[in-house]
Amino acid sequence: MDSDGPRLALLKQAQEALLYDHEDTLVFQIRAPGGAVIAGDDDLNLPPNLQPGERSFFDSLYRGQPVRVAAVRSDNGLYVQVAETLHKRNRLIWEILAAGLVPALLIATATFVVAWTGVARGLAPLASVRTQLLGRSPQDLHPLDEHRTPDEIAPAIEALNRLLAQLRESNDMQQRFLANAAHQLRTPLAGLQMHLELLLRSKLDAELRDEISGMHVATVRASHLANQLLALAKAEASADDSTSSASIDLCAVADRAVHEWVQRAIARDIDLGFVLEHTYVTGDAALLEELLDNLLDNALRYTPRGGAVTVRCGTELGHPYLSVEDTGPGIPEAARGRVFERFYRVQGTPGDGAGLGLAIVKEVAQRHRATLQVESREGSAGGTRIVIRFPAAALEIA
Ligand SMILES: Nc1ncnc2c1ncn2[C@@H]1O[C@H](COP(=O)(O)OP(=O)(O)OP(=O)(O)O)[C@@H](O)[C@H]1O
Ligand SMILES: [Mg+2]
Repeated sequence: MDSDGPRLALLKQAQEALLYDHEDTLVFQIRAPGGAVIAGDDDLNLPPNLQPGERSFFDSLYRGQPVRVAAVRSDNGLYVQVAETLHKRNRLIWEILAAGLVPALLIATATFVVAWTGVARGLAPLASVRTQLLGRSPQDLHPLDEHRTPDEIAPAIEALNRLLAQLRESNDMQQRFLANAAHQLRTPLAGLQMHLELLLRSKLDAELRDEISGMHVATVRASHLANQLLALAKAEASADDSTSSASIDLCAVADRAVHEWVQRAIARDIDLGFVLEHTYVTGDAALLEELLDNLLDNALRYTPRGGAVTVRCGTELGHPYLSVEDTGPGIPEAARGRVFERFYRVQGTPGDGAGLGLAIVKEVAQRHRATLQVESREGSAGGTRIVIRFPAAALEIA
């Protein structure tokens, strides 16, 4: 303090040495109690309401740059302020954040990966059960493999297997009931048909003959329905049944059909041809005969007089196949996906079929793990070809 008032007695070099910082700008300012700058930088603003002896820390701007300021008012009223730019502080904040955040992120990622793989591993057996179930046909009610499942889901698989066993049993009961009912119906219907035929041979007045003819037609129809239902029940019978599973020559199956269907073909003036090559499939001969009978029945029934029907069997790309081809009216494209449904008949189809023939064909094909293909063209140059392709290797039937 001299006659002009307070004055800073510090050399310029000493001031510069004190304020030196290679990263931040450091400035100071000393103001007299009246507010006049005694030493340091003019560009720092004073904090408001600073009482003698009080200090304060605050953010401010210095020549457009954000700074942190420490201010103190001495007991004798002098203001002393030191301001520093924020580079070091910001760097420090980032360093602290990085030091805390990076390990936290790493731990979170590791936890996520461990949890993800753990859950995926834990659920893998369920995924395999799902695949097993999705790969099954609705008829396949065999139990799931309990030994390959982990302990955690074993009780669930056991319960599922119990349910499958119950379903199998109830399915079998239904099949047996249907087969028995159809079988029981067949005999009286055959008797009735025979009596009506005998009656029709006798001398009858025209009105009565018409009535009896109508009854005869209805009886033949009912009898055909009972036969088709029985065939379907047999084709559907569960795999545990004592159905034979032998190596069968498709030629032999077709040969038998020659004798049975040739008369009908002649009666309908249809050229029935056979192109047969020896080929063997593993399966049930009676079911395969039923399949061919239904295909031939359709071909001969729906092909107009003068047409042709050809039965073929052989091997194509290692797969045994059986096909029936006709020069009939063809199956409309819209109906092609539905003709294998039970009781479905294309509208306008002549005759009084039960709509079960192709459902039987589909069942028998499925039991032999064979695929069905329908090729059909409508119109006068039309025709239908249904091909059944069997598995290449001798597989057990389902
Ligand atoms: N070869 C064919 N040509 C033309 N239409 C056919 C042929 N085969 C089947 N269809 C059509 O598909 C329908 C279903 O055939 P499917 O054999 O299942 O029953 P259906 O012959 O009517 O009766 P069912 O065979 O039980 O006596 C038939 O009604 C017929 O309209
Ligand atoms: Mg039919």
